[in-house]
Amino acid sequence: MLKAAVIGAGLMGGGIAQTCAQAGFEVVNVDTYEPALSKARADIENLFNKKVAKGTMTEGQKQEILERIRYSTEMKDLREADIIIEAVPERMEIKKEIFRAADEAAKEGAVIVSNTSGLSISEMAAATKRPDKVMGIHFFYPAPVMKLAELIRGIATSEETYQTVREFAAAIGKEVVDCPELPGFIVNRILVPMMNEAAFLVMEGCRPEDVDTAMKLGANHPMGPLELCDFVGIDVMLATMTGLYNGFRDSKYRPCPILENMVKAGHLGRKSGQGFYSYNK
Ligand code: 3HC
Repeated sequence: MLKAAVIGAGLMGGGIAQTCAQAGFEVVNVDTYEPALSKARADIENLFNKKVAKGTMTEGQKQEILERIRYSTEMKDLREADIIIEAVPERMEIKKEIFRAADEAAKEGAVIVSNTSGLSISEMAAATKRPDKVMGIHFFYPAPVMKLAELIRGIATSEETYQTVREFAAAIGKEVVDCPELPGFIVNRILVPMMNEAAFLVMEGCRPEDVDTAMKLGANHPMGPLELCDFVGIDVMLATMTGLYNGFRDSKYRPCPILENMVKAGHLGRKSGQGFYSYNK
């Protein structure tokens, strides 16, 4: 069985490590910032405790899954992994630095994939000496629950790498779609402008609860677009929208000023306690 590693212990990285462990894979979650690792571990434990209380997981299963996840602040702990998933913030200069370091630390033959939500895979691959072994796999939040993984090949990705990642995605329970290497891939190209448009409606005077109720009852969405903004993080949402705008240079992707103001004010959604709605932290 392949050994996995996840770089980055934020909401996505932690959730991807959990997904791998739940599917039976040994995984190491690496983050140079130790508090992020402690939080990732605590979040999974809290989630599992709720599942045990609800009866959807046994105490034994909880322990078994937790034991499959190791946490480390050292890139050298990527050494054992056959597949390394990068899930660090969406800034190309950070991604390239991580790809360079992962390439040095990883064993020969290991595949390195990015969970980017829209940055160029080919550009990240060019920071390594193994561009044929680099591609994109985009998960959705919450990673253990959402069924989809988008697969993105860079210009140098080999067929063998693509097949390895496709099989791995299936083994961790994901359905896959192939996406062009274009900003936003498929889901974010469609979903994020909708969320941005919902923010414009608020700017034009709509109440957030009316926008959300409208989309839940009028379009059967499980969450309204503004609830979803708070759920994924206003900062993540703004960065994704900005990525679309910078990528296509088309005014239809201009980020809503409300989102920019919220990020400046530190109102990042659920994780900060305040977004379009207020939350008890
Ligand atoms: N992490 C892990 N698991 C979670 C979770 C989380 N944050 N939230 C809920 N779950 C699990 C619960 O433990 C529960 O599992 P169980 O049945 O084994 O106990 C299961 O999910 C269902 O939980 P709930 O009954 O609380 O959930 P709901 O029925 O209310 O559904 C939801 C929650 C699945 C999040 C649903 O509201 C939903 O589908 N929302 C839309 C999510 C979405 O659109 N995500 C994509 C965002 S865009 C993105 O990620 C791209 C990025 O690049 C920006």
